[in-house]
Amino acid sequence: MRTVPVNAERAYQVEIGIDWKTALNDWVEGRTKVVVITSSNFEIDVDIPIVRIPDGEAGKSPEVLLQVWRELGQHGLNRGDLIVAIGGGTVTDLAGFAAASWMRGIDWIAIPTTIAGMVDAAVGGKTGINSEHGKNLIGAFHSPLSVLIDLSWIKTLSERDVAAGMAEVVKCGFISDGQILELLKNKSLKDICNDENLQLELIHKAVSVKAEVVSADFKESFLREILNYGHTLGHAIEKRSNFDMRHGEAVSIGMCFIAELASIKGVLSAELVDKHYEILKALKLPTSYEDSAFSDLFKHMALDKKNKNGQIRFVAISDIGVCMRIEDATSEEMALAYERISQ
Ligand SMILES: NC(=O)c1ccc[n+]([C@@H]2O[C@H](COP(=O)([O-])OP(=O)(O)OC[C@H]3O[C@@H](n4cnc5c(N)ncnc54)[C@H](O)[C@@H]3O)[C@@H](O)[C@H]2O)c1
Ligand SMILES: [Zn+2]
Repeated sequence: MRTVPVNAERAYQVEIGIDWKTALNDWVEGRTKVVVITSSNFEIDVDIPIVRIPDGEAGKSPEVLLQVWRELGQHGLNRGDLIVAIGGGTVTDLAGFAAASWMRGIDWIAIPTTIAGMVDAAVGGKTGINSEHGKNLIGAFHSPLSVLIDLSWIKTLSERDVAAGMAEVVKCGFISDGQILELLKNKSLKDICNDENLQLELIHKAVSVKAEVVSADFKESFLREILNYGHTLGHAIEKRSNFDMRHGEAVSIGMCFIAELASIKGVLSAELVDKHYEILKALKLPTSYEDSAFSDLFKHMALDKKNKNGQIRFVAISDIGVCMRIEDATSEEMALAYERISQ
């Protein structure tokens, strides 16, 4: 069992390697009303009323939130009551926002069931839903009382989903904690799926990286920006694939791209660029993308709200754990970096 403290707009702990039912019982004790929010395809055996939402991104819509509000009202949920979110990042995002908006904010607990949810979505206090104008446009900072990470959820995830979640873990390795990369040395995706101790170490370290970043700087500014490593091209690819590609898969390609760009800029060694491919390939994550897509992706990156003065802003590294910005990449340099990752 590991505990990671988070200090966002309020302080709470992430408990890793616990039995979620036992841990939840302690939180539920003494509460008048508790409601679980989970997705429609989840079998959950608890003695608590359940509100179900559609699986995946479909669960993060204003219509679904409206329905959830109705059901919270029907259950008579009050200021002192509790919402428990059990599911992937989509569920914790929606349920966290339902908790943030119900009576101007009631308590909630996050029980993430995907690796992306464990190391990313459930940590940091950001909650929200999608709008017809874009992903995550409606939201609030509303930290849970606690995040309960039970590693047994990982057993039912597909290898593809484990790999996609691991992309964020690898990202934490490059931007902050080289020990993550050491732990992953010579490890295959199967090793990670089968070794609960390794999962505990990796998830503990990745959660610690995110927790440190958000604790030091829990709203948008530079420190939090380092979490966007690999995400500038990643988001463009994700969007272009019409969200068929997993977020983590797109970020994997994005990390290879930014490593190549940093090498072209002369700030990152060829050896560390290779390390990106080596680790991501061992996890069966994609490291290249369609040759013909660059102009589309470039257009998308140019629209990023983080850009300044028409320049695309990238978070890069110059060494493991040493982050910097690249804001002066020319279109030739970007095209060259893209050529190196294109197939
Ligand atoms: N709030 C934040 O800071 C933050 C950060 C990163 C991502 N997010 C959000 O998180 C979402 C992505 O989260 P995700 O990758 O967990 O996707 P997801 O919630 O859609 O889950 C992916 C799929 O896995 C299934 N699943 C979940 N747990 C399972 C389990 N234990 N066994 C088998 N199947 C399981 C789900 O039913 C779903 O079909 C996005 O909406 C993203 O915007 C939020
Ligand atoms: Zn991400």
